[in-house]
Amino acid sequence: MKSVKVGILGLGTVGAGTAEVLSRNASEISRRSGYDIAVSMASVRDKSKPRGCDCSDFALTEDPLDIVNSTEVDIVVELIGGCDLAKELVLKAIANGKHVVTANKALIALHGNEIFSAAEKHGVVVAYEAAVAGGISIIKSIREGFSGNQIEAVAGIINGTGNFILTEMRDKGRTFDDVLAEAQELGYAEADPTFDVEGIDAAHKLTILAAIAFGTPLQFDDVYTEGISKLDLVDVAYAQELGYRIKHLGIAKKTETGLELRVHPTLVPEKRLLANVDGVMNAVLVKGDAVGNTLHYGAGAGAEPTASAVVADIVDVARTLDVASQQRVPALAFQANAVQELATKKQADFETAFYLRFQVKDIAGAMSQLSAGFAEQNISIEGITQKEPEKGQSTVSVIFITQKVQEGMVDEAIKQLESLAVVDGEAVKIRVEHLN
Ligand code: HSE
Repeated sequence: MKSVKVGILGLGTVGAGTAEVLSRNASEISRRSGYDIAVSMASVRDKSKPRGCDCSDFALTEDPLDIVNSTEVDIVVELIGGCDLAKELVLKAIANGKHVVTANKALIALHGNEIFSAAEKHGVVVAYEAAVAGGISIIKSIREGFSGNQIEAVAGIINGTGNFILTEMRDKGRTFDDVLAEAQELGYAEADPTFDVEGIDAAHKLTILAAIAFGTPLQFDDVYTEGISKLDLVDVAYAQELGYRIKHLGIAKKTETGLELRVHPTLVPEKRLLANVDGVMNAVLVKGDAVGNTLHYGAGAGAEPTASAVVADIVDVARTLDVASQQRVPALAFQANAVQELATKKQADFETAFYLRFQVKDIAGAMSQLSAGFAEQNISIEGITQKEPEKGQSTVSVIFITQKVQEGMVDEAIKQLESLAVVDGEAVKIRVEHLN
């Protein structure tokens, strides 16, 4: 049997998981791929440190260029993360005629257009299944499984750390910092965890999903991004009382007036499957004109679920080693010369429903002033709830769920209502998606 030699850049959580899965499942992998696939080299920052996998069968180096320039290595697996060094190494590997597998969502979201163009020029593959939603084969599903569809929308829980934090806070009343520390220990969180909690990691992944769903270039700068760090527990509880759960969603929708690309906390009706995806699990809903709604579920982070996607990419690359590059699945799902820019909508033009909470003085006529304000802006209200005043508080929480409306109109109404004497402080605004 012919052999394929893999060089791994970075033996952290995912790198060690990849080496372990390739070794443990070597026989099944060779039955599937037709190749004897093995790690021949791996780069680490410090060779003297203990590793999370058995390294006895391959060489370790502290210089990643040893791998990128090695004539022994067929596939370079980039698992060091970050952008600067990773980009340099990936472009060098491509220039050296090596295929690349990466789990680096930031690299693909920010530099993918340049990287895929270099790969096309050199006739090599850059595969990135592990960059989005860990072990779920969502890239393969969208690129290949739905190639007969016009994709209308993609919406998903695509950050395991954020979902883990929201779930533990809701179910166990644990503090944000406590759960985040556990997510870091378990290897779910990014090196800089603000990427998880401020939505940047999800925005990287949404950028990739939107490009392959709609055949557009990668356009990270056009994603509206809001994290979970400012979410108040009181709204998590109120949402639940109203029959919703708050999930941190990445949403990409194709509308007649342009693409909506947004990442933010979202109220989802509790009966929807997506509302019941908890812990570190991810799920991505894809809506196609032919297939309708589909939901893809699995672990979104962690050593072996992510390694599962990395190894699947290695097998895919091995299977196409002898295939002419124009016959391979295109990097961004559409033929490179058919990828087209589409206008993206500004936040004020997003169309969705809203959960709005105002703190209101508990006096006669207050509610009618608020309702009148919405009527003036032509905003239709789906439901209103007034909570009992908390002990020692002079205001009550009044919650409005609007019907679908342009965000700019809601912002205008909020501005006017916040100026009323009966309203105390700033309103809380969280988007609501019914995901029909
Ligand atoms: N930090 C990421 C997450 C890792 O929590 O989802 C997987 O991309």
